[in-house]
Amino acid sequence: MSQNKKALFIIFGGTGDLAYRKLYPALYKLYKKNYLNENFAVIGTARREWSDSYYQEVVYDSIQDIKESDQEAKEFASHFRYQSHNVNDTENYISLLKLADQLDEKYDIEGNRIFYLSVSPSLFGTVSSHLRAENLITENGFNRLIIEKPFGTDFVNSNALNNDILESFTEEQIYRIDHYLGKEMIQMLLALRFGNPLFKQIWNKHFISNIQVTLAEDMGVEERGAYYEQSGALRDMVQNHVLQIVSLLYMNEPSSNDSKAILKAKVDALKNLKAVNQENINQNFVRGQYTTSKDNPDILDYVSEHEVDPESNVETFIAGKIESTHENWEGVPIYIRTGKRMKAKNTQINIVFKKDTMNFFSTEEVKENILSIHIGPNEGLSLQLNNKQIGHAFELEPIDLIFNPSADAPDDYERLILSALMGDKTNFVHWDELAESWKYIDSIREAWSKAESPLYLYEVNTNGPTEANELLENNNDYWVWS
Ligand code: BG6
Repeated sequence: MSQNKKALFIIFGGTGDLAYRKLYPALYKLYKKNYLNENFAVIGTARREWSDSYYQEVVYDSIQDIKESDQEAKEFASHFRYQSHNVNDTENYISLLKLADQLDEKYDIEGNRIFYLSVSPSLFGTVSSHLRAENLITENGFNRLIIEKPFGTDFVNSNALNNDILESFTEEQIYRIDHYLGKEMIQMLLALRFGNPLFKQIWNKHFISNIQVTLAEDMGVEERGAYYEQSGALRDMVQNHVLQIVSLLYMNEPSSNDSKAILKAKVDALKNLKAVNQENINQNFVRGQYTTSKDNPDILDYVSEHEVDPESNVETFIAGKIESTHENWEGVPIYIRTGKRMKAKNTQINIVFKKDTMNFFSTEEVKENILSIHIGPNEGLSLQLNNKQIGHAFELEPIDLIFNPSADAPDDYERLILSALMGDKTNFVHWDELAESWKYIDSIREAWSKAESPLYLYEVNTNGPTEANELLENNNDYWVWS
């Protein structure tokens, strides 16, 4: 059976950074692998006045580092058209429809459309209602709407946003992106947990002591100060990527590997998160903000960044102790930590297993077994075991069993776009997950504000304020990565 997919992509935000850095290279990789071939076209739209030929040059330029040959890259870019567009103007949708129908016929696409919204969330409703009203949604093929984050700012706002979109598209047609769900090692979590009796049996409070999720970044907020002032680390990273990971770690085994069953297990895990309130917030969550240090005088404070309020109280770091009320997880926290301007870019999950009461060796000699899932920038798995030191003595030493996946594993956007082309929603965010995660995030914000939680400053190039370490030390735990 041919793997060639037929689709017309209409990208709102076609001149943007995300399209350039992620979407065009991802589409090109799918093209090289023959998932996209003769029967696809892309219309990029945005406010700017670009010509088709300029747009094609931009696309061509975006794949410079990965192109196989000049000719192939040009051939790929020839499938792209540009239309300058004001999202509020009905006339624009009428000409978009004309262009879409022409390309559909030219490339024999049979009515399959993917509308990709990489624009401000405040425009999601407007764009989707125009797409429906001006008949861009076809009768003969599939119609899917891919939406980039952020999906709202709190539960009430994202619910309203969702209802707006639902007037034009069904939940079945909506594909909400969390690019972490397209990462190899995140997808590997399900395989690891449910494909191995070894781990399946011990993935609970009897064997696991604690879990640690670190999403550390060495970069600052760059040019995104204005956005970040509204989001902070809580909305930017925790509401989506961190809580997705938490749900995959705490969820029970789904009844099958069908996307609905997986979704149900994830939503249940989110519903079971222990409530956060004014009384317990300061013991469980720490907020921080980066500040310059003597060793790094050239790196700005957060409050000196472009478009950031000099008095800003926004957190660029958050650490937390998340717990579940499910009986399988009593006493097993997931410590989370994410921040900008930390020591290094490092995303990893550490499963710290309990030490056993030993007869054979003394407990001091034995280290914890730790399963580490390295999500980025280097991908891999490692399992810390105790082994006999090589030599005459009979002493223990920790060793790591290491696995590194092949370097040419598909990247996140390539994988997610292909899933959308195939109609597989497993790795997209369903409204039910979004609703639960926003409710949890709202409760943290509310508790922070009622408890007037402090904002701890941390120097750039460190792993956040020391208060974040105390979250673990109070439980006799320690960060595995430091
Ligand atoms: C995005 C955030 O969702 O994820 C960014 O908006 C962050 O602030 C990025 O830098 C991190 O993604 P990754 O894949 O580089 O870990």
